[in-house]
Amino acid sequence: LAGWGGWVYDGGMIIGKTIEAVRSAVAEARVAGRSIHFVPTMGALHEGHLSLVRAARGPGRFVVVSIFVNPTQFGPNEDLAQYPRPIEADLEKCRAEDVDLVYLPPVEAIYPEGFCTTVHVAGVTEHLCGAHRPGHFDGVTTVVAKLLNIVQPDVAYFGQKDAQQAAAIGRMVADLNMPVSIAVCPTVREPDGLALSSRNAYLGEAERKQARSLYAALRAGEDAIAHGERDAAGVTAVMRRHIEQAGPCRIDYVEVAEPATMRPVVRIAGPVVLAVAVRIGDARLIDNLPVDVPADGG
Ligand code: PAF
Repeated sequence: LAGWGGWVYDGGMIIGKTIEAVRSAVAEARVAGRSIHFVPTMGALHEGHLSLVRAARGPGRFVVVSIFVNPTQFGPNEDLAQYPRPIEADLEKCRAEDVDLVYLPPVEAIYPEGFCTTVHVAGVTEHLCGAHRPGHFDGVTTVVAKLLNIVQPDVAYFGQKDAQQAAAIGRMVADLNMPVSIAVCPTVREPDGLALSSRNAYLGEAERKQARSLYAALRAGEDAIAHGERDAAGVTAVMRRHIEQAGPCRIDYVEVAEPATMRPVVRIAGPVVLAVAVRIGDARLIDNLPVDVPADGG
């Protein structure tokens, strides 16, 4: 991948390593009349990421993917060091999906000496993962704000799988009047329901089977609501049972939350998101299911 001036052409796809290279390629695409569609990732690309790329693609569009394992969104005892980084395979997947530009910034370009600004979105980030991963969402919103400023896309794409992340980014973009639309795309699942995640690679064979219980629990919660349960504690009890019966694990949370604020609800009287985070072996897995309940609670 040796290049000059911060970028290389690689089989028709541009690989940009500097902010200047990305900005000039994006400016050129705009002059050519193309709109800019951006998929930020941490690499280890799977079908979930590729579904975002496919949503981003279209006539007259210039598709940018960033691959950056963002250190500031990992806690001190989390998996930053072991996070998978199969860069050649990722570039191959981007090439196969006709991505126009892959942005591969080095850590020093994103966090240069003296960097001291944090974007903190209050409220939305308080509960669920926010309560279990202190500082995580500050790391996410800070890096996403930077990436959006660097790429300046018309539309940026995120997965429903990280519902709280998507809600925090939506809030940030609205609060800071950032000129970008946020598209949230459906979760991609294995045939048995397990949501695709780069962290599924940490699961052993038995743990992988056990991990099916997350989606089974979400569906059981949805079923309980469909049968008239409106007490959130009743729904979470059903979900917890599914997860606990599947095998040894540590449950971080099982919640029924309000979709815009991600605050847990007590009584279900409108649309909700059922959300779970469970540690199985070395993997911390999250999943969620939006459930559309009529606003009158009926
Ligand atoms: O969802 C992810 O992969 C990351 O949190 C993101 C949005 C790329 C920021 O590092």
